[in-house]
Amino acid sequence: MAKDQEPLLAEERQSSEQSSERNVEEDALLTGQQKQQKSKYGWPFWREVGLFSWAVIATALVIVLGVLYQHQQSVPPNRSGWGKNGKPTGKRNMIFMVSDGMGPTSLSLTRSFRQTESGLPVGDVLVMDQHLIGSSRTRSTSSLITDSAAGATAFSCGMKSYNGAISVLPDHSPCGTVLEAAKKAGYMTGLVVTTRITDATPACFAAHVNQRSEEDRIAEQMVGDYPLGRVVDLMLGGGRCHFLPNTTQGSCRADDKDVTKLAQDKGFSYVDDRKSFDGLNMGSAVKLPLLGLFAATDIPYEVDRRQLNDVFPSLDEMAQTALRALSDATKDSDKGFFLMIEGSRIDHAGHGNDPVAQVHEVLAYDKAFASVLDFLDKDPTQGVLVGTSDHETGGLATARQLHQDYPIYHWFPDALLNATHSAANLAVQLHYHISIHPNIVQDSLANYIRAVLLEQGLGVYDATDAEISSLMDTSPTALPASYIFADIISRRAQVGWSTHGHSAVDVNIYASSAKAARKLVGNHENTEVGEFIRAYLDVDLEAVTEELKAAGDAVGMGKEVVDIDAIAEVDHYQGDFKRGLECDCGVVH
Ligand SMILES: *[C@@H]1O[C@H](CO)[C@@H](O)[C@H](O)[C@H]1NC(C)=O
Ligand SMILES: *[C@@H]1O[C@H](CO)[C@@H](O)[C@H](O)[C@H]1NC(C)=O
Ligand SMILES: *[C@@H]1O[C@H](CO)[C@@H](O)[C@H](O)[C@H]1NC(C)=O
Ligand SMILES: [Zn+2]
Ligand SMILES: [Zn+2]
Repeated sequence: MAKDQEPLLAEERQSSEQSSERNVEEDALLTGQQKQQKSKYGWPFWREVGLFSWAVIATALVIVLGVLYQHQQSVPPNRSGWGKNGKPTGKRNMIFMVSDGMGPTSLSLTRSFRQTESGLPVGDVLVMDQHLIGSSRTRSTSSLITDSAAGATAFSCGMKSYNGAISVLPDHSPCGTVLEAAKKAGYMTGLVVTTRITDATPACFAAHVNQRSEEDRIAEQMVGDYPLGRVVDLMLGGGRCHFLPNTTQGSCRADDKDVTKLAQDKGFSYVDDRKSFDGLNMGSAVKLPLLGLFAATDIPYEVDRRQLNDVFPSLDEMAQTALRALSDATKDSDKGFFLMIEGSRIDHAGHGNDPVAQVHEVLAYDKAFASVLDFLDKDPTQGVLVGTSDHETGGLATARQLHQDYPIYHWFPDALLNATHSAANLAVQLHYHISIHPNIVQDSLANYIRAVLLEQGLGVYDATDAEISSLMDTSPTALPASYIFADIISRRAQVGWSTHGHSAVDVNIYASSAKAARKLVGNHENTEVGEFIRAYLDVDLEAVTEELKAAGDAVGMGKEVVDIDAIAEVDHYQGDFKRGLECDCGVVH
């Protein structure tokens, strides 16, 4: 049987492999048919055919290999920006995202909220969750619990400093920042925030003062009124009041300097409302440098802003605008850009202990995060996104024991679903209502609180009389109404908070790819995040520090001086639990 099939097999092999000279020869030896053909055309003919075929194949192979090789040369196997020797290489963009005050629990809170709201399966996660690569330890030099100023100084200078420090070290000398050094190296630079652009996190990239509260001075420095001149190409966010002279409506400056004018003198185009933001056409109509201040102070919480969409742009819209503008502006440059994007008010929601404001802030940040990933995928320039938090805020727990008996293992995201406003916004509504009805009777105020603020505003239909009375309490020891609204909704959801301030828990580190941000995989000190940005941009912070120091105090780098010996004592127990209710009510974020 096998032998009978042999000629057939040989014939088959001939037809499919006849282009090979060796096979033609072999087949000729093996089969009678071949002999016949051989006699018909002769050996020289077949040799010609074979040689020709081989030449064709060889040529094709050379072309295919050539194309493959060229492909490998022009498109690197990864777009991480890191070369083979572990050094950054080629034109590249660095996008650094800060989720201010977002701890690990903020993620579980928001994930469960979204799953409940949209009926998504348990496996549904945020975009960020798919890009988790590590965690960061956040302490400052002055405390185990950092503030945003020391936290952002760790990112901007790669060094620890004291709470309140805006890119100055514990000895009050300025430290060069990654943004300043990036500008000097030829990158374009940008800052996008939802708080005041003069607030601690953005300030740390382009200003140097001893205390974060010096926002008037920070505003001047950020537009270029300091030794380095203008270093920021694009700023979008809130905080207009620190740029307007005290003679103007809507100013919060102590002096009569017009910093919007100063900025324009230094070349900035200035936009200050939604209409002019829309005129930027999502970045394609931007003229750099650009200063865009869309709120007097903070841009409203996302949960409130989405009802004021015609007044304030969203974080995602501002982020996309910045990405497009900076990408266009660096199109013909051999250097890319450095952009910092902050979900600033996750922190404020934490300070307010407001789970409703918080979930919507985190979702808005996640949306911007997704837009950055999308940008990195599509932009011809390689780049990396690194995201982290400066610290956690609120000591948030997705658990809360409400009663003395052993707690049930539940928290209830659905209790947050019907809320339409932040607790802070409801408090403003309450105060406004009282101010326009100065003689309102208690019953009628109680009805307003129940029907409008608690039911419509917070989605709470079972408020107790005690809760409503606490909101009407005007005694000096009364809690702020915003805290009461936040507590009412937190109790319904069984969400717990341990502080109105920050906590020391490690925060997450995210990246567009773990490969691109390999040095940040695992657990790190927050300063290593700053060092990563510096290394990726391959810039010289020392040189900037020297330039700043050479300019000296004459330029007024900072005014208030902090007693460093005093703050060194703070990490030790001093019987603080005994302190009474007297309040040191200065709000520090
Ligand atoms: C790709 O990126 C990694 C860093 O994550 C680097 O070690 C590697 O050498 C890069 N490859 C090339 C060809 O640049
Ligand atoms: C406004 O600023 C000027 C100094 O620039 C100061 O003299 C004046 O007192 C300020 N006015 C107010 C109302 O703060
Ligand atoms: C939210 O509102 C809807 C419609 O008013 C209501 O049916 C639902 O029970 C409310 N959910 C909660 C958790 O209060
Ligand atoms: Zn912060
Ligand atoms: Zn804070």
